[in-house]
Amino acid sequence: MCGIIGYIGSRQAGPILLEGLKKLEYRGYDSSGIAVIDDGVISVIKSVGMIKALDEKSKGGSVVSGTVGIGHTRWATHGAPSDENSHPHLSSDKRFAIVHNGIIENFESLRTELKSLGYKFTGETDSEVIAKLIQHHYCGDIISTLRTVITRLEGSYAVGIISADKPDALYAIRKDNPLVVGLGDGENFIASDYTAALEHTKNFVLLGDKEIAEITATETKFYDVDGKQIKKKPYTVEWNIEEAQKGGYAHFMLKEIFEQPRALTRTVRPRIAGDEIKLDGIEFDGDYLSSLERIDIIGCGSAYHAGIVGKSFIEKHCRIPVNNILASEYIYSDPITGPKTLTVIISQSGETADTLSALKIAASRGSRTLAVVNVVQSAIARAADDVLYTHAGPEIAVATTKGYTTQIAALYLIGLKIALKKGSITVKRYKELLSGLVTLPQTVEDMLSEAEVKKVRKYAEKFHNQKCVFFIGRGTDYAASLEGALKLKEISYIHAEAYAAGELKHGTISLIEDHTLTLALVTQEKLYHKMESNIKAVKSRGGTVIALASRANSKIKSCTDMLLTIPDCDDDISPVLTAVQLQLFAYYIALKRGCEIDTPRNLAKSVTVE
Ligand code: AGP
Repeated sequence: MCGIIGYIGSRQAGPILLEGLKKLEYRGYDSSGIAVIDDGVISVIKSVGMIKALDEKSKGGSVVSGTVGIGHTRWATHGAPSDENSHPHLSSDKRFAIVHNGIIENFESLRTELKSLGYKFTGETDSEVIAKLIQHHYCGDIISTLRTVITRLEGSYAVGIISADKPDALYAIRKDNPLVVGLGDGENFIASDYTAALEHTKNFVLLGDKEIAEITATETKFYDVDGKQIKKKPYTVEWNIEEAQKGGYAHFMLKEIFEQPRALTRTVRPRIAGDEIKLDGIEFDGDYLSSLERIDIIGCGSAYHAGIVGKSFIEKHCRIPVNNILASEYIYSDPITGPKTLTVIISQSGETADTLSALKIAASRGSRTLAVVNVVQSAIARAADDVLYTHAGPEIAVATTKGYTTQIAALYLIGLKIALKKGSITVKRYKELLSGLVTLPQTVEDMLSEAEVKKVRKYAEKFHNQKCVFFIGRGTDYAASLEGALKLKEISYIHAEAYAAGELKHGTISLIEDHTLTLALVTQEKLYHKMESNIKAVKSRGGTVIALASRANSKIKSCTDMLLTIPDCDDDISPVLTAVQLQLFAYYIALKRGCEIDTPRNLAKSVTVE
């Protein structure tokens, strides 16, 4: 996600901002920029692409002189990576510059209002409205102006602000997006995370939600939204830079597992208004849906598995046949497709070569293409007719976690929107599932509580030397087990196989012997008894079984060796919860085995070759 750095002190700000942005590169970005107050005028330098380009353009930050400035690395959410969309953004009168992390959910209405007042916008971003809004409400007193702006913004934001009218101060506001104030010696900083300022100071203050920071070289003041000054207690961060980039987690993968509640919120919440699902302008009109004969869901690896989970949900609620097809198979299959098939393309990176090729073939045969992608303006996003971004934020670990679960959440949104439009779901059931989606991030948060994670870790460590692990389930649990097996394989190098539980007896059960480990997913209430007999079949051959069950099915403990549970949730959206448990299971096994978790051998984060 985006990165923020701000500086005020006696040194030249440009080079410090550049160095700070380099420390934020790990967060993933596609453009960057700095703004410095240079003799009463705000100078802005931006560049698309890597920081290296900005470094060259700004000659290491030396082309601007001044001791107050802000910098930003942008992870595009609204609007392509471009100079116009990069931050810092200027007010129309060029007296203010801002950098922003987060998503302003009411930016369209604010933009319309400001345009009607004569403000001109240079880019397509949500962030730009903040700069214009500050100018519009500026009354000579910046604190009072920012208090007003805070009351007008909806969504999540961490904002750094500089003003040509107040060249001896740096300002910051935030809500639901982290921002810290770094306290130096005769100089101070703002940063989206410690990494950007850690080489200058280990003393920080956390800015609270809807609070305002007014920072000079020697003093920091904090105000609440009512303008009351508040005291803040500084704290010391004893991390080194590398630890700071992982937010204190041992690996990016673990950090991204725990980021899933926030990532799922970003996928789902901005698209639900009351009982209505809005898919960023993507519509399925009645005629199109009545002509629709099939949906093909195409992807690779975990994206393919997300599609299988999506198939189960979409077929059940939309009553449209869904095919899951591996992209690498699709491109050489001379596919039967056309205008009566909707092709849903899934890809976290949006750059997977096989998946991009599959999209082009489907499109060339007249099928409408809808991409579910995380990276904005990636090749797949640009090639598709429609794109629904997952907004999971950059995923650094090769093994996908939040990328996968947000793909599933996006497919649930698409499925519910189609089902309601088609009338293939009752309003009651639609509302139940919508409510389950809205509360899903909190359910995941609850599940990531200390106790549950400790239990998963205990079982994972107990079985870290297994030669082979089976994952079995039925229906949507079978779909979820596919991803569980892949996660374990790709980071622990243990062979694992997912099996439809009902299929085990048709051959593979011959592999079960004393102590062979099987993870049995038992979240579907209506399949409980079937799973019970499958588990007993494994046990009777000496196998060891860990059940991963909903709390309602926890009685399955009576016939298994161990039990992991997921919080009760709607059966139809349980795969997100089981995914998180199985991610943790794989992670702790790989950790115990001393594997290179974030960069597993032989794997790349994005396979851009066929
Ligand atoms: C997932 O953990 C793997 N890294 C891999 O299977 C991945 O899902 C696959 O390569 C597809 O990548 P994409 O989603 O970026 O297209």
